[in-house]
Amino acid sequence: MRPHRPYVPETSPAAAADRFLEVMRQRRSVRFFSDRPVPRELVETLIAAAGTAPSGANKQPWRFVAVSDPALKREIRLAAEAEERLLYEKRANDDWLRDLAPLGTDAEKPYLEIAPWLVVIFKLVRDDAPDRRSDQVYYVNESVGLAAGLFLAAAQHAGLATLTHTPSPMAFLSRILDRPDHERPFLLVPLGHPADDCVVPEISRKPLDSIMVLNRSEALPPPASGVRPSSNPPTTTDRSE
Ligand SMILES: Cc1cc2nc3c(=O)[nH]c(=O)nc-3n(C[C@H](O)[C@H](O)[C@H](O)COP(=O)(O)O)c2cc1C
Repeated sequence: MRPHRPYVPETSPAAAADRFLEVMRQRRSVRFFSDRPVPRELVETLIAAAGTAPSGANKQPWRFVAVSDPALKREIRLAAEAEERLLYEKRANDDWLRDLAPLGTDAEKPYLEIAPWLVVIFKLVRDDAPDRRSDQVYYVNESVGLAAGLFLAAAQHAGLATLTHTPSPMAFLSRILDRPDHERPFLLVPLGHPADDCVVPEISRKPLDSIMVLNRSEALPPPASGVRPSSNPPTTTDRSE
């Protein structure tokens, strides 16, 4: 028999989970970026991490377009701001504007030019892999959502800042980035370092006992006071901020 040595995992699962939670608790949506460069190789590593996500039938129905060209970023900013102006002036109903108010967002998006990278995540509505068995794709939104989440987590883990941005409708991204018809814009993620004077809104997380149910719940938590049923709520696919 070959020699053996003791195998002791470096850390306990609980300690590792705590460490990951600490990293993820630092994640915030950043809207004030520095222009400090981020090397392309680092962006590639983050996208590779995102690409490890599970997906329906392993179709990996995503494409990450990494944009650093200043002229393209400017074009994206101008088009995004045009959509955002319509959102704030016409498209958003009162509830939506009320929900957005604590974030202090408006139609101005300078970070789209300042952040060194805009990573535009597209979902594939048909498979285009050269070795595909069929063109079909499955659970595309779930799959791309998971990949996007891993991308945000990988960036956070690397000490970088992101924003999950949805200047909807986002068809302008297909046009500006010259993407084929079966790729549909899913998220626009500015990526970089936060500005030195970056601030984020004071918001809170729901407590664990309101997001987790152990086995069968006997009583649901009462609704927060003052919360009214939403009139004409936007659908889950057309929300934007
Ligand atoms: C699907 C999705 C779309 C979002 N769209 C926007 C957006 O268009 N503009 C923006 O400033 N923030 C956007 N956000 C960021 C949210 O406002 C933010 O995640 C939320 O307020 C919680 O703040 P935090 O990310 O700092 O924890 C979006 C987030 C998600 C998940």
